[in-house]
Amino acid sequence: MAVQTYDYLLRDKHGKDYRDLAVYRAAGGYKAVLKAHQMGGEAIINEVKAASIRGRGGAGFPAGVKWGFVPKDTNKPKYLVVNADEGEPGTFKDNYFLSHDPHRLIEGCIITSMALDIHTAYIYVRGEFKRQIETVDKAIADAHKAGILGKNVLGTGYQLEVYTHSGAGAYICGEETALLESLEGKPGQPRLKPPFPAVVGAFGCPTLVNNVETIASVPVVIEHGGEWFHKLGVERDGGSRLIGISGHVKKPGLYEIGVGANMREVIYELAGGILEDRPLKAVIPGGSSCAVMTPEQIDAPMTLDGIRDAGSSFGTGGIIVMAEGTCMVKALQRLSHFYAHESCGQCTPCREGTGWMARIIDDIEAGRARQEDLDTLLEVADQIGGNTICALGDAASIPVQSFLQKFRAEFQAHIDHGGCPIEGPMPRGTRP
Ligand SMILES: Cc1cc2nc3c(=O)[nH]c(=O)nc-3n(C[C@H](O)[C@H](O)[C@H](O)COP(=O)(O)O)c2cc1C
Repeated sequence: MAVQTYDYLLRDKHGKDYRDLAVYRAAGGYKAVLKAHQMGGEAIINEVKAASIRGRGGAGFPAGVKWGFVPKDTNKPKYLVVNADEGEPGTFKDNYFLSHDPHRLIEGCIITSMALDIHTAYIYVRGEFKRQIETVDKAIADAHKAGILGKNVLGTGYQLEVYTHSGAGAYICGEETALLESLEGKPGQPRLKPPFPAVVGAFGCPTLVNNVETIASVPVVIEHGGEWFHKLGVERDGGSRLIGISGHVKKPGLYEIGVGANMREVIYELAGGILEDRPLKAVIPGGSSCAVMTPEQIDAPMTLDGIRDAGSSFGTGGIIVMAEGTCMVKALQRLSHFYAHESCGQCTPCREGTGWMARIIDDIEAGRARQEDLDTLLEVADQIGGNTICALGDAASIPVQSFLQKFRAEFQAHIDHGGCPIEGPMPRGTRP
């Protein structure tokens, strides 16, 4: 069965420049704001609950439920913080909204703020996204000039200011509490939870933190209805979502699919199958912190529960495909150096352990490792996971644990061979 794709969120095939406010409005843009204003806060939240959207930033927490945690009666200001850090390797979906459809995100900010009586929203953008920040800033300025933001949003009397805030390029600042620290001007180091940001967030005030795609989906939910959006997906995981496929496939890129499509079909039909028609060797299903999967595991529905039952996690929906011929030690080496570089250093197991793991993998790849290093590697990974303030520790250990579990023979062969035994070139056009 062909995989159904949609263009509710991913509108790149329309041939229109939605960054232009006039083009955005001509396509019905900002009409959902007026509808939402008439509905009122409670009804908007109920619609988002009916849509059954699970957060698109990786953890998959139900959006409507999280919105419900933001206190209604408080004398403190409340904030909306949009997480546009997008640092997870293999993930490149939020970039689409920031670069090509920024008004969709702003419209989502307005409706979300109206739902929760918020009057200040921050879009926290990763430092490397300089051009994207310019694009979003221009869209904010255009919206302001047109009376869509500011003291009287579209004549409704509602007041909202939206600001971008640039990170400095640290992956850890995608973790929501490190992000809040960074937004407050401090080093990006995660906070202990609880309290959760919904109760004590930015500047000590209740703060809703949601991913770009989660917020950009809100106008679609309000325009078409929560139940309608829900039905694009499955029971516990509603809607359509963007997935990015990279690696050794014939048609890498961004696709919008209904939650629940089969992963094998997505790889072989949507993404055109494996380069040079090689056999598939491994798949990382949702950004680099998810457990690696083998070809036998990919007949799974792409839902948070479906991929979890298959032994990994859906994460951000960034699928990394590896063909036969890929050296799994080298692949893990790349990932481990990333996590060692990005550890914020606050927790000892992560600060010391991520570098230790990377050095052992360097030794394995270079043929310098001793037999006992394999067990040490696994032991270090096991000691990091679950023993840190934030999930970066888990993100660093899960690849090590899963690569060793699924491809241990290949690690052993590196030790026995005194180097990499994988022969032959990588598929054309890809780097080893
Ligand atoms: C190390 C680390 C990095 C993260 N990076 C991001 C990120 O770049 N973007 C994002 O939306 N969420 C990221 N998250 C998840 C956030 O902490 C948070 O769950 C998310 O922003 C909530 O939004 P959602 O409920 O809409 O998914 C990261 C988490 C961790 C532990």
